[in-house]
Amino acid sequence: MKRHLLEAADLDRDDATLVLDTAAQIDQALSGREVKKLPTLRGRTVVNLFYEDSTRTRISFELAAKRLSADVINFSAKGSSVSKGESLKDTALTLEAMGADAVVVRHSSSGAPHRLAGWVRGSVVNAGDGTHEHPTQALLDAYTIRRRLGRLEGVRVAIVGDVLHSRVARSNVGLLHTLGAEVTLVAPPTLLPVGVGSWPAEVSYDLDAVLPKVDVVMMLRVQAERMNASFFPSAREYSRRYGLDARRMGALPDDAIVMHPGPMNRGMEIAADVADSARSTIVEQVANGVSTRMAVLYLLLGGSPQ
Ligand code: NCD
Repeated sequence: MKRHLLEAADLDRDDATLVLDTAAQIDQALSGREVKKLPTLRGRTVVNLFYEDSTRTRISFELAAKRLSADVINFSAKGSSVSKGESLKDTALTLEAMGADAVVVRHSSSGAPHRLAGWVRGSVVNAGDGTHEHPTQALLDAYTIRRRLGRLEGVRVAIVGDVLHSRVARSNVGLLHTLGAEVTLVAPPTLLPVGVGSWPAEVSYDLDAVLPKVDVVMMLRVQAERMNASFFPSAREYSRRYGLDARRMGALPDDAIVMHPGPMNRGMEIAADVADSARSTIVEQVANGVSTRMAVLYLLLGGSPQ
């Protein structure tokens, strides 16, 4: 494993498989235990540095570090010196002076974790940077698919919706490809990034044509907060063409699963009854996020002080 986890490409197939296998071992070790805690990172410090809103990812990293017995510091831009104009670099040097072994960072600027990695001695884990990457989300998604379907090699995955603004889509395309899955991106042309033709994925504009041929459909949130123009005529029109409702779900093969990284716009990209159906892995994805992030922190920081 490399020292930092900044993007899906930091993991080759062996590294990625090691993370998934470690997450499975952690799940097994903790299942049925009343005290869900391992002593592995005792005496190590993990800092969660969140410059952008988050519910799941932030809680998940916090819980993951605590379950490994690390000391955890949660830092959010709101209420810190960042609101007084302190730069990322000065914040990083402060953390460095306090001896952080790992810095988990979420930032609205693509590339911020890369910069940070040049300033601190500890490991940097990207928890989502702008529209760029979100590698631990891709790992927990791969873990969820492998648990549900038993494999990743040859699994057909459709990633549907606002690909343009989605760091989840970027990281998933990279990691799923590394792990041997076949990805099709489905979106209106306005919500696909320039250069998507060079990604290791097929592209389609037609959700109905793709659904019968996939094992996994991963719905993406329409990221209204990142849209400064109008990318589709109306919410209703978007749902009609690209939303997953019960009728469309019926077109999936019998064993296919429905995923969403959250937070969902219920009724927009995914209907409420689909999100709550037996095929949906949305709640499992959240639970799997904790074990996957434990695996990442464990592998990056190692069991004992370096
Ligand atoms: C995603 C994110 O923040 O990139 N959510 C998450 O981490 N679970 C996706 C999104 O915001 O739509």
